[in-house]
Order: sequence, then structure tokens, then C-alpha cells
Amino acid sequence: MLKKQADATTKTAYLILDGTTYELPVMVGTENEHAIDITKLRNETGHITYDPGYANTGSCSSAITYVNGEEGALHYRGYPIEEIADKHGSFIETAWLLIFGKLPNHEERQEFRQMLTDNELLHEDLRHHFEGFPSKGHPMAILSAVVNAMGCYHPDLLEIQTEEEFIQAAAKVISKVRTVAAWSYRKSQGLPFMYPNPSLSYCQNFLHMMFSEPYRLYEPSKEETRALSLFFLLHADHEQNCSCSTVRMVQSTQANLFASVSAGICALWGKLHGGANAGVIRMLHEIRNNEMTIDSYLERVKNKEFRLMGFGHRVYKSFDPRARILRKAATDLLGTLGTDDDLLELAMELAEKAMADDYFVSRKLYPNVDFYSGIILRALNIPVDMFPVMFAIGRMPGWIAHWYEAYSAGQEKIHRPRQIYTGECRRPYVSMNERGKK
Ligand code: ACO
Repeated sequence: MLKKQADATTKTAYLILDGTTYELPVMVGTENEHAIDITKLRNETGHITYDPGYANTGSCSSAITYVNGEEGALHYRGYPIEEIADKHGSFIETAWLLIFGKLPNHEERQEFRQMLTDNELLHEDLRHHFEGFPSKGHPMAILSAVVNAMGCYHPDLLEIQTEEEFIQAAAKVISKVRTVAAWSYRKSQGLPFMYPNPSLSYCQNFLHMMFSEPYRLYEPSKEETRALSLFFLLHADHEQNCSCSTVRMVQSTQANLFASVSAGICALWGKLHGGANAGVIRMLHEIRNNEMTIDSYLERVKNKEFRLMGFGHRVYKSFDPRARILRKAATDLLGTLGTDDDLLELAMELAEKAMADDYFVSRKLYPNVDFYSGIILRALNIPVDMFPVMFAIGRMPGWIAHWYEAYSAGQEKIHRPRQIYTGECRRPYVSMNERGKK
């Protein structure tokens, strides 16, 4: 659906360099986003563009997710996130939608659910990998390592040839990632691994593997299961963010699905990305435990001692629609569970004060998806170390959809940015005895 306009009647950009004028075609996306196509720039001019952090660079065209940062819009395959969340779209439906481009009908949804159930167990040998990790090993390290290792158990899916093989691989990753995630938690607690229960839904099953005991089954309420599904579906994709771009970059080398999404997990780990939800809870604890006032904390943020976690976004410059949905969901969940969380009150007050402060307003810094998601995860008794893991489970369908889109396009080039070299110019090699003293 991407239209490319390059004739005389449509838009063309002109670049004048050393007296020569170059014509650069302007691409227009289906939501009227514009991009100057510079694919021939280096060949024709000998110049590259310079854009550290890629804030102005489109690395690909994609039909999966649309984000409009100015308007605070997020669409999965054309459907606004508010509608998907409102109409009680489940995480599994959302996964199907992102990967295959349409909402599943009843039969497709049942088939997909069945595939996930059929694939929920880990190979028993893979189970032994957990023994190799120290008991306090971070669950994100375990998750990325075990997801990558999963490929060893499915050598037939390392070189995908058909759509059927791709669906098999996708179902394995989406289903097994929750088993790996839950077991990484059990390992850190020295608890026995709970095997998945095929009679449970995706989210129920995850909570079962996290919290059941061999002698006592954990039965989450409908509200808890629903909140978890909402959390996952709101995290399911967000176009070319750092982890998604990482997945596409690794895929561009023709690496397999398991290795590519494992790299995505590593990219997600950092505290400026998927680690921010845990950062928010740590920040709220710090304020509360040290009896700091919100004003004094915000002063320190404004003095640039540290950042306000869960605030700001590279793309959203008005509000993050996911944060709005999660803010309400967090309040509703705590209401139905009948539990108070003083951190939620603190978070609400902090957000209100920050949003009224010129430092944040002038920089267009608003609460992002991570600001309220931690409150929901706390209400579900998920420990803070597991927060980025939860994000990774939710983001898996998005990474897989992007992997498949890039794979199906076939002609995509290996991703290989250039640089402006700022080091020493050519100089003669100095042998050891001529190098002087320290
Ligand atoms: N707290 C305080 N100041 C901030 C914050 C923040 N959270 N975010 C940005 N700023 C300030 C910067 O200091 C900078 O100020 P300056 O112009 O005076 O130098 C200005 O706002 C612009 O900041 P950039 O770093 O250029 O913004 P960028 O778009 O590169 O960063 C990011 C986006 C990384 C999300 C940033 O806002 C941030 O660090 N936020 C906190 C971490 C966080 O919540 N991450 C989760 C992001 S959502 C996700 O990954 C799912």
C-alpha cells in the first residue's frame, strides 16, 4: 500500500550540493507520512546522512503498526488501540492480528489457541538449561538465552521455507516464552517448576506456572486474567522501537526467528526501554521510603541528576494512549481486588505535578506505557525483576510480525548503517621498542 511519488506532478525534494541539484523522491505512507528517499544518495553524491539515534530515519516500510506521536494515536493493522482494548480483544487475537494482518475468525482463533496449547511444554532437555543458571540470575538473561537455545530443539525451523513452518515457529515462540518466563522466576525462588495446564487460557496458564504449588493450585480471578491480557496486548507492538529494530536488523542477516527475537529481548532489557517499568516502581519506592516530597524529587530531575522514569517518549509528544488505558485499568483492578496500593496514589500525584510543570510541558514529556503498568503488575504479584520479562512476553507477537514482514519481503538488504569516522588519520605503525614508557 505504500505509494511512491517521484514524477514531476508530485512531491520531490531537491538537494543542492557543491552546485549540483539532486532530485530525491518523496514517499508517502497510507496515513500520509512523508519520507525523503535517499537510497541513492551516497552513490550519486558521495555523501551519507548523519542521524545518531535514528530519530529522523525510516529504516523500512511496514504495514503492521501506525504511531502518530503528535496526536497520540496507536493502531495495530489499522485498528485503534483504544478499540482493541475496549472491545475486550484478547492477547491471542491481537497476536494473530499483528502477525497475519486481520482479526481471526472464530475457527482461526480456535486453531491458533490449540496450536499454542500444543506447544506450551518445553523439551525436557531444555528444562535442564535452567540448572546452569545461578539462582539469582536475572530472568531477562535467562529468557533471552533459553529462547535462543530453543532453536537447537527445532532445527527444522531454523531455515523457514513455507508459511506453515513459520506459523509453527511463531506458535512455539509465543507459547513457550511464557513457560520459560515463569520458570525463570521459579528458578530464582528455588521453587519447583510447574508444568503448563492445557485446560487453561494463555494468561491463566502463565499465572498458574508462576504461582501454583504442586499441592495448591493458583486460580486467578477473571479481573486478574483480563488485566494481564490487557497488559500484554498493549505491549504487543510499537513499530520501529529499539528492540523491534534490533529484531529486524538481526533478521536482515537471514538469522532464524529464535535468534532474532532473543536479540530483541536483550535490546528490551535496558532501563531506557523495557526496563523502565521496573525503574518506575523503584523510583516510587525511593520517594516513599526516603520520605522525599514530590516537589524535591522533581527538582532533582529538573537539575538532571536523573530522569523521571516512565516519562517521555521518542515518538509521543502529546500523550501515550497506552498510558491512559493502563491508568484506568490500574485503578479498576485495585478497586475490584479491594487492595490499596499507596504507590498508585503516589504515581498519580507525581504525574499530576510533573504534567503541570513547565520543565516537562515545554519538553513534551508525558507519562508513557511504563508509568502505570508496574502498578498492575504489582497487583498481580509479579516481582519487579520480572517486569521487563512481562514486557517481552507481550512484545513477542510484534517482533514475530516484523520478522515475518521483513522475511516475506525477501529483497530487504542486510542492515548496515554507516558512520562519520572521527578517529586518527592514517599514520605509520609504531613497533614495541619505539613506543616509549607509560
Ligand atoms: N525525565 C526528565 N527529563 C527528560 C526525560 C525524563 N524522563 N526524558 C527526556 N527528558 C529531557 C532530556 O533531559 C532532554 O532535556 P534537554 O533538552 O534539556 O537536554 C529532553 O527531555 C529531550 O530528551 P531526549 O533524551 O532527547 O529524548 P529522547 O526522545 O531521546 O528520549 C526516552 C526518549 C529515552 C524515552 C526519554 O524520555 C527517557 O529517558 N525517559 C525515561 C525512561 C523511560 O520511561 N523509558 C520508557 C520509554 S517507553 C518504552 O520504551 C516502552
